[in-house]
Amino acid sequence: MVQQVKIELKSEEEDGTKLRQITLTGIKPTGQPHIGNYLGMIKPALELAETYQALYFIADYHALTTVKDKKELIHLTHQATATWLALGLDPNEVIFYRQSDIPEVFELSWALACFTAKGLLNRAHAYKAIVDDNISEGREEDKNINVGLFTYPVLMAADILLFGTHVVPVGLDQQQHLEITRDVALTFNRNYGDVLTIPEAVIRKEVMTIPGIDGRKMSKSYNNVIPIFAPSNQVRKPVMRIVTDSRLPEDPKDPDECNIFAIYRHFADADAVAAKRQLYLDGGLAYGEMKKELFALLETTFSAQRDRYNDLMDNTDELDKILEEGSEKARDIAVPILAKVRKAVGVSP
Ligand code: TRP
Repeated sequence: MVQQVKIELKSEEEDGTKLRQITLTGIKPTGQPHIGNYLGMIKPALELAETYQALYFIADYHALTTVKDKKELIHLTHQATATWLALGLDPNEVIFYRQSDIPEVFELSWALACFTAKGLLNRAHAYKAIVDDNISEGREEDKNINVGLFTYPVLMAADILLFGTHVVPVGLDQQQHLEITRDVALTFNRNYGDVLTIPEAVIRKEVMTIPGIDGRKMSKSYNNVIPIFAPSNQVRKPVMRIVTDSRLPEDPKDPDECNIFAIYRHFADADAVAAKRQLYLDGGLAYGEMKKELFALLETTFSAQRDRYNDLMDNTDELDKILEEGSEKARDIAVPILAKVRKAVGVSP
């Protein structure tokens, strides 16, 4: 079982020096970020990085299971990198790298594959969903499924276990992957002793509660997102289209039922949120006005970051350099752990 973990303070070494625990997460490069990505993943991960030694990486080889266009993969990687930097990731604090720059990940992945029950992967949601879809459409069950997609959870386990990770912040959709990671690590340790650190998932509940403009969870696949770095008019449009009920301005309303308020409350300061809440309850709030206010708030919140994002995207050499520097630091952690694994299993040390 993956548990929710309270943020623990640094653990203390015997000699009194503080050693920070490791938090790690993979960022699947999926293009321009939206408000749901920011509130659900980026912001909490940046907060976690204040307590832990964070390793955050772009999972470009995971993306290869679906992205088969070279230019697109490069562009997506740059977008994800620029997004995190623009939104406040400090590469001097966080070890920020590209998965494909760490050859040790792929070696560990093989070793772990030899301890992964195939049945575990058969039951993995992402794979099973495609199989089920094929079956219900009358197609051959593994139609259009590559082995990379099938072994995706093993590569993810390697990403995590290679760094002695303690906690992994992820969305609910990744919970099963974390369970597989733990299962594989425990199986490995049962055979060789205490070699791998068993990670815990930190599941962010909030991920689920950020509605898109139609009230369902904000997600690119639902086409209901509010982008962060798009030009103003492309932010205004979806905001003005947020679905509401048909109550009139003078009617009292429940703020907790309102999709506009659900987003607004994450960006306005506490006093403003309290005042708005009261206005909803008392009556006197027009949805159209509330949308305009939310749009203005998003503009002020993200305008500096949008400029920074655009600068970074104009300067992809700089992005590559930052990722390369990050990968050197990451490998300093990975190499000794892989050496321990090699020694444990009995391949060439
Ligand atoms: N599978 C994750 C996702 O889709 C991305 C990922 C890859 C990841 N490797 C990871 C997340 C390791 C956490 C830890 O979002």
